[in-house]
Amino acid sequence: MEMNKDTVLTLLKEIIHPEKKQDIVSLGCVKRIAAGDSGIEIELVLPRKHDPFGSSIKRNVLSLLEQHFGKTTPITVTLLEEEQKKNVSEKSGISSIKNIIAVSAGKGGVGKSTVAVNLAIAVALQGYRTGLLDADVYGPSVPIMTGSTDYKPFVKEEDGLQKMIPLDKFGIRIMSIGFFVDSSSPVIWRGPMATNVLKQLIHQTDWGSMDYLFIDLPPGTGDIHISIVQELPLTGAVIVSTPQKVALADVVKGIEMFRADKINVPVLGIIENMAWFTPEEMPSHRYYIFGKEGCRKVAEKYHVPLLGQIPLVMGLTEAGDEGIPVALDQETQTGKAFHELSLAVIKAVEERNRTLPPSKKVEVKK
Ligand SMILES: Nc1ncnc2c1ncn2[C@@H]1O[C@H](COP(=O)(O)OP(=O)(O)OP(=O)(O)O)[C@@H](O)[C@H]1O
Ligand SMILES: [Mg+2]
Repeated sequence: MEMNKDTVLTLLKEIIHPEKKQDIVSLGCVKRIAAGDSGIEIELVLPRKHDPFGSSIKRNVLSLLEQHFGKTTPITVTLLEEEQKKNVSEKSGISSIKNIIAVSAGKGGVGKSTVAVNLAIAVALQGYRTGLLDADVYGPSVPIMTGSTDYKPFVKEEDGLQKMIPLDKFGIRIMSIGFFVDSSSPVIWRGPMATNVLKQLIHQTDWGSMDYLFIDLPPGTGDIHISIVQELPLTGAVIVSTPQKVALADVVKGIEMFRADKINVPVLGIIENMAWFTPEEMPSHRYYIFGKEGCRKVAEKYHVPLLGQIPLVMGLTEAGDEGIPVALDQETQTGKAFHELSLAVIKAVEERNRTLPPSKKVEVKK
């Protein structure tokens, strides 16, 4: 038999994948064949990552080719995994999400998680299909704030990939690392582990088709932020801050991080949390305990909208601890504030989509 690409390809049709019960050529596993004076080189990509039949298929290919072209012909068969990765992202659970919005803050404890949870619910109440990803893998607070610390995601297998089913509660789909670890003890990951866990939460959640996915980020500007912009095409970011000076310096850092040359994520606006204190029994009183209009000034300086102001009310902390988000009741002061905020965020996203091209994932060079 003459040794060329076609004869090798014809022979490879005899190799059947034991699980798929089809030959490796029809399965599209043969990615490259080189056949010439220097021998035969074959590159295969099998249907599953770490395919359990990989080594037996490789052995069968080698022995078949040796039978036909003799033992002295140099033959190399390589199993590739690279393509596999591409397949994973093509099949990623995020492929049918229209808008992905990061909820960020330069500083800890300013109310990112509170805003992310309530904003997601308020957007869902407008009739949009909405999800919430808790990307704070070091200190996930979404399970407590949504009263779902006992939820254990069901895992299903699809095309050889494991997919986690998000929690469906309060009209939104929720995923958090807190569903997999004991949320009463702090989660300690080394950097690369945390980013790997986050990648799985992003791509292996069965989000389904959605209009909005909000991402609750950890505080600051670290590894997780970089992973998020690499893994997800962010539509934009909103930045949460309280009105006092120290917090505002961090807003600037946050804006600059998203606007940095290589990152280039549109900043949709600032959300002022704890904008004023209003006692429950005196809803018309406003005490500006952290200063007045701080966020508005920064917003003007950086030419971004101030998307909303959320008052500081005792009930909000209690609601967070009890796992019943305030946005569910739009008659309350805070419920109203989140309702208005959701309108402003939707408007800012629509405006962004009209004026800017769709976001791409960021390639960060190592
Ligand atoms: N507007 C508000 N009124 C009253 N309490 C609030 C308000 N916003 C947030 N809180 C409370 O402040 C605390 C911190 O809020 P939250 O956990 O949302 O902040 P965070 O920025 O996500 O924190 P971390 O940086 O730890 O992730 C919580 O106990 C929350 O209930
Ligand atoms: Mg938080």
